[in-house]
Amino acid sequence: MQTLRSIEQVLAEEYPQTVTTRDGGAVLLRPLQRNDQEALIRMFRTIPSQEQGRFFRDPVTDPVVVAEWCNSIDPTSVLAIVALDGERIVADGTVHCSSSQMKHHVGALRLSVDPAYRGRGVGGVVVAHLLDLAPYAGLEWVDAEVSTNEVGALRFLEQMRFERHGVLPDHAQDGLGGVFDVVLMARHVGREIERDIGGQG
Ligand SMILES: CC(C)(COP(=O)(O)OP(=O)(O)OC[C@H]1O[C@@H](n2cnc3c(N)ncnc32)[C@H](O)[C@@H]1OP(=O)(O)O)[C@@H](O)C(=O)NCCC(=O)NCCS
Repeated sequence: MQTLRSIEQVLAEEYPQTVTTRDGGAVLLRPLQRNDQEALIRMFRTIPSQEQGRFFRDPVTDPVVVAEWCNSIDPTSVLAIVALDGERIVADGTVHCSSSQMKHHVGALRLSVDPAYRGRGVGGVVVAHLLDLAPYAGLEWVDAEVSTNEVGALRFLEQMRFERHGVLPDHAQDGLGGVFDVVLMARHVGREIERDIGGQG
């Protein structure tokens, strides 16, 4: 079996990368950096607060929280890729590796795209790169949990070839009295071969 490069080596050798999006535009992809704190907060501030409550576990516009992320970058723990238009971060995608030995080979996807940049293919390219990179971080699966009322997110993940692997009943609330099932989505990512980063995701 061919030996995989380390995730640090791959990130250093393959990025930054300019990629063309579906709408014919271009964004720069690169790993999250220590000095991204302000640009990342600006991006999260573009996300409506109601949507922040639905998708984020952490208060993503809190400078202390974002500073902690930017000051503790470790791609073997959290693989983080940002997309930029000039100086502006327009998307942030992360795969969180589990600290549990039982789930060392499984990562959890989180993604947010600046609303002004949605529907152009930006989220798709960020996830495709994360899926190509995941095996270098020792992952064999990337998971996502989405409630059934998040139709757009479910459709997006299916487009990215995540498959439905189960449903947790009534595991999500919308804060307005609505209760929804949570769909367990997962995408297998191979680890046997050197990947073509920015290939097919
Ligand atoms: C879901 C989200 C990440 C998609 O990002 P995006 O940059 O708009 O997505 P893209 O333009 O790259 O779309 C990729 C594919 O997903 C589909 N898709 C994206 N958003 C969709 C939506 N709201 N409804 C239906 N399909 C959608 C697109 O049709 C596209 O398929 P195609 O390439 O065959 O045309 C973005 O809308 C977002 O940040 N939403 C709020 C947060 C969220 O849902 N997070 C969970 C993500 S797992």
